[in-house]
Amino acid sequence: MQGFLSGYLYFLAMEFMVLVTLLSLLILVPTFFLFGHKKKYNGQLPPGSLGLPVIGQSIGLLKALKADRVNKWFQERIRIHGPVWKASIFGYPTVVLHGPAANKFIYTCDGNLLTNTQPPSFSRIMGSRNIIELSGDDHKRVRTALVSFLKLEVLKQYVAKVDEEVQHHLQTHWEGKHEMQVQPLIKILTFNIICSLLFGIERGPEREKMLPLFQDMIEGVLSIPLNLPFTKYSRGILARKKLVPIILQVIREKKKALEEQRNPQKDLITSLLSIHDNESSTIMSEDEIIDNIILVMVAGYDTTSVLITFLVKLLANNKSIYSNVAKEQEEISCKKTYEEANLTWEDLTKMKYTWRVATEMMRIDTPVTLSFRRAKQDIEYGGFIIPKGWQVLLTSSMTHMDDSIFQNPTMFDPARFDKHAPPPPPFSYVAFGGGPRMCPGFELAKIETLVMMHRLVTRFSWELLNKDESFKRIPMPEFDQGLLVHVKPLKEDGVI
Ligand code: HEM
Ligand SMILES: *[C@@H]1O[C@H](CO)[C@@H](O)[C@H](O)[C@H]1NC(C)=O
Ligand SMILES: *[C@@H]1O[C@H](CO)[C@@H](O)[C@H](O)[C@H]1NC(C)=O
Ligand SMILES: *[C@@H]1O[C@H](CO)[C@@H](O)[C@H](O)[C@H]1NC(C)=O
Repeated sequence: MQGFLSGYLYFLAMEFMVLVTLLSLLILVPTFFLFGHKKKYNGQLPPGSLGLPVIGQSIGLLKALKADRVNKWFQERIRIHGPVWKASIFGYPTVVLHGPAANKFIYTCDGNLLTNTQPPSFSRIMGSRNIIELSGDDHKRVRTALVSFLKLEVLKQYVAKVDEEVQHHLQTHWEGKHEMQVQPLIKILTFNIICSLLFGIERGPEREKMLPLFQDMIEGVLSIPLNLPFTKYSRGILARKKLVPIILQVIREKKKALEEQRNPQKDLITSLLSIHDNESSTIMSEDEIIDNIILVMVAGYDTTSVLITFLVKLLANNKSIYSNVAKEQEEISCKKTYEEANLTWEDLTKMKYTWRVATEMMRIDTPVTLSFRRAKQDIEYGGFIIPKGWQVLLTSSMTHMDDSIFQNPTMFDPARFDKHAPPPPPFSYVAFGGGPRMCPGFELAKIETLVMMHRLVTRFSWELLNKDESFKRIPMPEFDQGLLVHVKPLKEDGVI
């Protein structure tokens, strides 16, 4: 089963894929398709066209992503071809699937049928031992190790720590400001939380050195992979080169602390180092820890910051939701004395309405919308054949806009997720994916979001400078101006 990078990072390469496609199409692809068409399969290929509109399909999809109308783009094609169809996307013959049954099939399908394949340019920046690239027993082993720290029972103890980061962030970046770009700031926050909580790297010069390197890496993954001086891609590779020794040093220090039993502060890295296969060897090698540290950072940083940014926009545009959230949060803060001012897990369990709002937000604007996989052998699905080697594109979040599942799907209505409302059918709400590769960062994302919303609505009110500021998916949503807001502290306003 596949994950994030086929779904997410893999996707980041599409800009490049188009360029490469454009170049290679002229020579390679037409020949491939000529033979491809002639080849006899053990079954019927899905409807749709692989022909020369190849370029048109990739560019059309990219354009739809940039305008945030991917759903429409897919819907038009589903109307013509039905739920299973073929196309040529980013240089590969592809079968496109959607619907709860397709989500279930892809998310729970045997790893012998589908793999995650990333273009080699990815692994050069992201490493080749990260969880996304692994399958079968290797995937299980690394996933178990990651989840040993990311599970709720462990994270519960770190709510106050997340809160401290959030409060420090607001003091540094929000207080005393009038106009600001929200999205880039929230990215700094999610970066800092991951550094502190997962890597045990506290505020200070080390962290400051790492942030621009991570940002260069992420930009590199997103860029056209031309390893020439001054390209973003080569800067990404260079950033990885500089980052690896820093992470390695952190790992070694933590190893030493563990061996000497010096107050081994708990964090993801220490956790990974303390799980042993047998007496002499840890369950993950140093190289694996490095690649997965980098992956967790990339997977956790953009996604959570996107959700929080969407919520800031929503609360500015919908006063009734803002006041309901504010009411729930103020009830929590009223009951706390000054000394126990940091939030606890207990407090978060009372933020039920706020989390329903976040859940509904991700239904309407899903941070991760597409998942890519690759057929490892001929697969039969829905009466058609998906030939070995073809790409499978799952448009998982289209079920969020299906009116047979969510009535009146374009309406924002957190009550859909009420305790008393019937839960959505399995594999129809998929903001975090599903099956054995479902997002292991779910609990952390939830904690970060709830703490941030609590601190925001109890301290600030804000307005958008551009009410309709739109975003592009490249492929993660990026607001055109970083979401420009005007903030006011509540106290000065006399609201509190
Ligand atoms: C709102 C925030 C988040 C959203 C919407 C989200 C979404 C997703 C989705 C949809 C997948 C599955 C992709 C697929 O199957 O193709 C995934 C996988 C993953 N996510 Fe998240 N994620 C979020 C936050 C996080 C955080 C905070 C972390 C890290 C602490 C994280 C780490 C991962 C990892 C490691 C995987 C790969 C799992 C595997 O392949 O077994 N995510 N995420
Ligand atoms: C809680 O809050 C206080 C004051 O803001 C802070 O000094 C303390 O270290 C906090 N953190 C934890 C983990 O309790
Ligand atoms: C421990 O595991 C390593 C690698 O998995 C293996 O090479 C070694 O022989 C094992 N040692 C024992 C004592 O089982
Ligand atoms: C705000 O949200 C409520 C609750 O879902 C909804 O009924 C209302 O139409 C929304 N208002 C605006 C201005 O979008």
